[in-house]
Order: sequence, then C-alpha cells, then structure tokens
Amino acid sequence: MTEHRYSSPHLTTDNLTSLQTHILAEEHEYPGATGDLSWILSAIALAAKVIANKVQRARVEDVLGSMGTANTTGDEQQKLDVIANEIIMRCLGDRANIGVLASEEDDKPIILRSKAEGGHYAVLFDPLDGSSNLDVSVGVGTIFSILRTTDIKPDTPEDLILQPGTLQVAAGYILYGSSVVFLLTTGKGVDMFVLDHSMGAFVLVIPKLKIPPEKKIYSINEAYYDSFPDGYQHYLDWAHKNGYSGRYIGSMVADIHRTLLKGGVFLYPPTVTHPEGKLRLMYEANPMAMIVEQAGGKAISGDKRTLDINPTGLHQRTTVLMGSPAEVDLVLNHVNRP
Ligand code: AHG
Ligand code: MN
Ligand code: MN
Repeated sequence: MTEHRYSSPHLTTDNLTSLQTHILAEEHEYPGATGDLSWILSAIALAAKVIANKVQRARVEDVLGSMGTANTTGDEQQKLDVIANEIIMRCLGDRANIGVLASEEDDKPIILRSKAEGGHYAVLFDPLDGSSNLDVSVGVGTIFSILRTTDIKPDTPEDLILQPGTLQVAAGYILYGSSVVFLLTTGKGVDMFVLDHSMGAFVLVIPKLKIPPEKKIYSINEAYYDSFPDGYQHYLDWAHKNGYSGRYIGSMVADIHRTLLKGGVFLYPPTVTHPEGKLRLMYEANPMAMIVEQAGGKAISGDKRTLDINPTGLHQRTTVLMGSPAEVDLVLNHVNRP
C-alpha cells in the first residue's frame, strides 16, 4: 500500500513529524522495545525547552555572568551552567528507568536507583556547552550521551558508566542559537529537529542528515598554534596555502553543528595547557563522535577512533579531530607524516 502523502503548497515537508512521534515511531522499529529510551528522550526534550527559554531570557533575568565558583574540572561556572544542570536533573530525576546521572558540573555521578530497581540507563551530559559565549549571545548548547548501566557490582558510581563510546545507545545535542535545534541519533542515522515556538514542539526538518564528504573549512583555536604538535602546524600551514576558510565559534556544539551541515573539520589538538586535549571524552567527544559517524563522518582521538577509547574517569579529557571523512584524512596525513 503506498504511503499517503499530503501534497499541499502549505507544507514545507511531506509530513509533519514531531520529536515525540519520531521517537515513538523509532521505538516501534525495534522489536521488543520497552519504551524506556523514548521515556528518557522525552525528558531531555522537556529540559531542552526549559533551558532554551532560560538562555533566551538570560540577559533580561540577569542570570548571566560567573557564579564565582569552579566545577570539578576547574572550569569557571557560569550562572546558567548551574541552572541548566538543575533543570536537567529535575526533568530526568523522576524517570524510573534512569539509574545514573553524570554531569560535567558534578564531581561524581549521581546514582538514582540500582539496576535491580529498574535503573537500566545512564545519562551523561554537558548541561551548557560553550557557556563562556553566553554573555555575548553566541550559540551555546547541551550535549547528552545515553548508556546502559553495566551489570557489574560497582566499587564506585563511575564503574556503572565507564564504557567506550561504541556502547552508547543514543547521543545528541541541543543548540540554542538563532533557532533551537535538536540533533539525535539512536544508532540508525542522525535526525535534525527545530523547536517550533508556536506549538512548543520540536519538528523534524532533516531526516537522516549526512555530512558533506569534504569542504575546505577547518575549525580550530589558532591562538594555540605555537603549542600544537608540529604535525598540526604543518596541516595549518598547508591549509593556509590551499584555499581553506577558518571558522571557530568556541562552542563545540555550534562548531560541530556547522561542520555537520556545511562540512569541514573540527580539531582540538594537544596544547601546552591541555597536553591530553581539553574536551571531555564521556559527555562531549563521545556523543559528538557518535553523531558525526552516524552522519557519515570520522572522529579520531590521537591514534584511535574516539568511540573505541576505554575510559578511566568520568571527566577525562581527549584530543578531538572530527568531521568530513576526506578532511579528517587530510589532517591525519600531515599529523602522521613520516
Ligand atoms: P564548556 O563551556 O562546556 O566548558 O565547553 C567549552 C569547550 C567547547 O565548547 C569549546 O569547543 C572549547 O571549550 C573552546 O575552548 P577554547 O576556548 O580553549 O578554544
Ligand atoms: Mn562543553
Ligand atoms: Mn559545559
């Protein structure tokens, strides 16, 4: 039976699909699906709407600026880092299938319930990414990664969640920019939604998004040029002579979102201040790596695929090189040149 599609000049897409209906439709594609993941994703969508409202009103409600405190990895906490963290905790905390919540803003994971009590999933997140850009109204975001809690008897809360990125069951981000964009993958490609404020729902705008295979754009903080390993300096010297554009926003979510839509490569190499890289593996690099790979891109950390890294700590950092496959390979050719 052919699928009935409305052909109306008023519809911008063949069908109107909300994030909620998309999640439920995907759930039906998984035999034996319990609806657990859908339940968690709907809570994340709720948190995203609340945070979007807070970000839009930050200047009006005077919740910009620093808390005057630092988080566990030494980053200065913006007021909205803490507010976004609390919003996510409030929206996710009552989902009975979540066992662990782990945030960039908290030293230790929070155990809500054991696996035996139904806590089958862990949600790891960067509640507000790029928050130093908040005061100047530049795009910031939320990044999330969903894992199944491990079966082992944990010595520490981290034991329940320290798994390679290949075991993520879902990953995504919300970009609070000129529009509020929700990107999601559950391992069957990447789907892009935009918040339609007139009805308070995220609507599907790009199903099965694919990253352009190549594009002469690199995204890196060139201020650290002198402290990059010489292979990265060699790549930049080459790119300067071969028609590349530099684009760097300083919010990973915004830089990755542009890379996914336009193509190119995003890099955060080792620097003197962060010899192991600055970005956090569990709630920045891994979710972004899953998204980029699911969109047809590549994500490398040092000499291995980012998703293959066996983590040793919730807040461990890693170098990041991800984007269009041809562009990632060009960087690697220079970095690994004999
Ligand atoms: P966060 O605001 O969650 O601490 O993340 C900031 C990260 C990331 O968003 C961005 O790509 C990177 O910091 C920028 O670092 P530099 O300012 O060193 O370029
Ligand atoms: Mn971040
Ligand atoms: Mn953050």
